[in-house]
Order: sequence, then structure tokens, then C-alpha cells
Amino acid sequence: MTTQVLEAINRQIAAEFGASFSYLAMAAWCEHHKFMGAGRWLRLQSAEERGHALKLFDFVLARNHQARLGGIEEPKSDFGSVVEVFERALAQEQEVSKQIDALYELAFREKVFAAMAELQWFITEQVEEEKSVREIVAKFHMVQHDSAALLDLDRELGGRGPAQAGTPA
Ligand SMILES: [Fe+2]
Ligand SMILES: [Fe+2]
Repeated sequence: MTTQVLEAINRQIAAEFGASFSYLAMAAWCEHHKFMGAGRWLRLQSAEERGHALKLFDFVLARNHQARLGGIEEPKSDFGSVVEVFERALAQEQEVSKQIDALYELAFREKVFAAMAELQWFITEQVEEEKSVREIVAKFHMVQHDSAALLDLDRELGGRGPAQAGTPA
């Protein structure tokens, strides 16, 4: 593995932990505002992002390098509405997709084939993650002025199983 690719993967580990932290902050907002189902969904998503971070962490170690943890930013924790929470989640996923693409491009340029193979999983995962969050945003837009439907949607989100949006292999 080249130094550049190693450093970029280490930065991505921090970015995945950052996403985990951010989802947990979103869960806190939702639960504080009594959207308990959304809170549960976001907690599971937070755990999933931690799984992504650890998957890259394990990859770096498996390639006989030291995984290094960088700092993570304080996540946004104030939102105007539950819809805004999920809009923010979608923007975050789109940003991560760009990061993964850039990382894949770097691994390709540097001919680090093992990293390319590892990153394939993340490219596929991002397609799934964007899709599931985009669907939730669309549903919130449909029901946002109907409190009974909003409560139903919150209940539906609370029924999420741990592996719904994909877990690391
Ligand atoms: Fe992730
Ligand atoms: Fe994600």
C-alpha cells in the first residue's frame, strides 16, 4: 500500500466514525422530540457507521500497517424538524459517497489493487445507504402535515432490523 492511500484510508476511518457520531446526535434530537422510532433507526445507523470504520481499520491492519485515528468534528445536533434530520442524513451520505469515490480513484491511480477490492464493498454500500435514506426523506415529505401518518412513519422506522441497510461482511 502506498503512503498516500494509507493516509487516505486512515482519514476515511475518521470520517466513518464522524458519520457514526453524527447519526447518534440525530438520534438524540429525535428521541428528545419523542420520535422514538426514528431515534432507534438512527442509533442502528450510527452502529452501522462504526462497523464501516472498523472494517477499514481491520483492512489497514490486515495489510500490515498501523491504523491511525484522526479527530472527528462535533456533529450537528440542532434541527428544525424530523424531516430536516433525514435531509441532513441524506446530504451526509452523498458526501460520503464522494469521499469513497475519491478514495477508489486514488487507489486506482496508485495501483493498490487490494484497496480497490476492499473499497468495492463501500461503493455498493453507499448506493444502498443513499437509497434507503432518500426513501425515508420522500416519505417524510409525503406525511409531514399529517400527524397521524407521521406517527405511523415513526413507528415503521422503529421496526428496522439491525441488518436492514447492510452490515459489514
Ligand atoms: Fe459509512
Ligand atoms: Fe452511511
